[in-house]
Amino acid sequence: MTKVITYGTFDLFHEGHYRLLQRAKALGDYLIVGVTTESYDKTRGKLGVIDPILTRIENVKKTGFADEVIIEEVSGQKFSDIKKYDIDIFTVGSDWTGTFDYLRDYCQVVYLERTKNISSTMLREQRQHIQRIGIIGTGRIANRFIPEAKLVSGVSTQGVYNPNFESARQFAEKWEIEPYENMERFFGAVDIVYIASPHQTHYAYIKSALEHGKHVLCEKPLVLRKEQAEEVFGYAKEHGLILFEGIKTSYCPGFQKLLGIACSGMIGSVRNVEACFTKLEDSGSRELTDTMYGGSFIELGSYIMLPILKMMGVNYESISFDSFNGENGLDLFTRVTLRYRTGLATATCGLGVKSEGRLLISGTNGYIVADAPWWKTTYFEVHYEDAAKVDKYSETFLGDGLRYEISDMLALINRTATNDFKLTRGESIALAEIMEKFMKENRK
Ligand code: CTP
Repeated sequence: MTKVITYGTFDLFHEGHYRLLQRAKALGDYLIVGVTTESYDKTRGKLGVIDPILTRIENVKKTGFADEVIIEEVSGQKFSDIKKYDIDIFTVGSDWTGTFDYLRDYCQVVYLERTKNISSTMLREQRQHIQRIGIIGTGRIANRFIPEAKLVSGVSTQGVYNPNFESARQFAEKWEIEPYENMERFFGAVDIVYIASPHQTHYAYIKSALEHGKHVLCEKPLVLRKEQAEEVFGYAKEHGLILFEGIKTSYCPGFQKLLGIACSGMIGSVRNVEACFTKLEDSGSRELTDTMYGGSFIELGSYIMLPILKMMGVNYESISFDSFNGENGLDLFTRVTLRYRTGLATATCGLGVKSEGRLLISGTNGYIVADAPWWKTTYFEVHYEDAAKVDKYSETFLGDGLRYEISDMLALINRTATNDFKLTRGESIALAEIMEKFMKENRK
């Protein structure tokens, strides 16, 4: 019996898929089809897959060509599948020609001609109205955003606004987009507003964008007062608009995996979370000179509070801040201590003090540790009482990581996702409240 194997995402099942499976089956007697998981697709940069895996498997089965369907969830699996299932022929479409030649040592490799003029990407784009993004702000993060947005199908960066028009003009020229001087015209030309302006301007821009009927993705910290966060989220909800706080850690696959493990019972019940993030800044930088909105906690607090709120929840019993301030009164190092009914948490951050950036989650059966840069999670370990037993996990973090939040936001806008579980409104509101509490104590 000749055994054939092929792999694919098979999203929005189309004629190209059908014809490929038909010819794959004809190559032998028994066809195994590997369907990719959503998380595997994410790690290989395929974002925005629409059909859930069960639908994709069903569609493959319906063709009647597959004798067996398996799931492809990690890179490197093809080799082991070939051995495991005793495969004679590996086949895929001609768009992959050459890529899988390394498998020729283990079986025959056949590239089947790809069906012309059809692809899942094309169908996804046809289904969606392309969401036009407009950027407010032209700083470092805005420059990282554009190449990331290019990798998400269904969005296109249209223009940029900056009250300093010369900055907008230069930024626009660099990225070949439209510069705007007039806010009304800017809002008129876009569907999503990405806010990457100074922290204190977020609230007014969010409000204005929402009032113009635009979805908003705003850099962290979203706003610096609880009441403002409640107001903008309330407005967005009432008007069917999506408002997202861009803390990239919350949307990246590695952090999702870490949360899943932390909350799976593997380390028992979580009783303590410690998160630390330090980044030495130049003493003349905005972060260390803006005496109202600079300082370590406003800059880095969202990252270090995130794992605590995700794992321990938003209902802490007490919170206290301790800071070491520089001469201008800005915190160079801040420690936040929280007490919960079920445990404790500590978050530390610094712009003027360097420390070991680490995330440590302690439970009743073991602990998880992720080293810096854990906020772009790619690796973590699970340890137990028996020091010799260590479970190691790794995950990809592609590029600057902004593609994950853009694609999640787009899924909500297009209603292919139903909720914001990776960073909920409640969590964003809690973060704003913590920022507010900190400012009350630290900024006189
Ligand atoms: N395929 C094909 N002809 C097409 C599209 C896909 O023969 N017009 C083949 C691919 O080469 C692959 C299999 O179908 O062997 C599954 O491909 P998949 O990546 O799921 O489909 P695409 O339409 O290429 O998806 P995307 O646009 O997301 O890359």
